[in-house]
Amino acid sequence: AYTAEPFVPTRGGLPALRKAAAECRGCPLHRDATQTVFGAGKATARVMLIGEQPGDQEDRQGTPFVGPAGGLLDRALADAGIDPADAYVTNAVKHFKFTRAEPRKRRIHKAPTLREMTACGPWLAAELARVEPELIVVLGATAGKALLGSSFRVTQVRGTVLEEEIHGRPERLVPTVHPSAVLRAEDRDGAYRGLVSDLKVAAQELA
Ligand code: URA
Ligand code: SF4
Repeated sequence: AYTAEPFVPTRGGLPALRKAAAECRGCPLHRDATQTVFGAGKATARVMLIGEQPGDQEDRQGTPFVGPAGGLLDRALADAGIDPADAYVTNAVKHFKFTRAEPRKRRIHKAPTLREMTACGPWLAAELARVEPELIVVLGATAGKALLGSSFRVTQVRGTVLEEEIHGRPERLVPTVHPSAVLRAEDRDGAYRGLVSDLKVAAQELA
């Protein structure tokens, strides 16, 4: 089975993890992507935000949530009263998965499979063990399924506080929609307000 496990160092902090993740060959996604996009933020962060996988901009720059979805997320965090300095931001899958409609054309994001999410899970587990966040914000269905299993339905649990065991540790989680889903929504303002209102539940937990 695909797995990042043999690449994950058992010792060292986030810098050691990041360095090792750059060399991960745990699944085929590293082949076509530019680089590993590891999580960003301080080990002392109180909240961990978990997205799906890096997008085109993130793949080029090597940092999560620096593209359009990231811009929207930053604004929503500010509107919800969550200090970015308190947040560690990462993804369920650390390499960009994409297709091209035509050769040399724009790269189109493709959702990771359950196998790829499972393969990449040891990196997320290692980040959780190092950061030990007080709260996890689950951004969208893919991250939710990666963390909580395939029965996860974001519409059913968004904006609520869940207590679940994740990679062997008891965690508190607040799920919400993915910022990219807000960008795609027909009623973008309404979708944005929904995201902010869910993030306010997280902000309250951190207060
Ligand atoms: N979408 C994600 O899920 N993660 C990113 O880092 C960027 C876009
Ligand atoms: Fe490793 Fe995850 Fe990249 Fe696959 S997606 S190669 S498991 S870092």
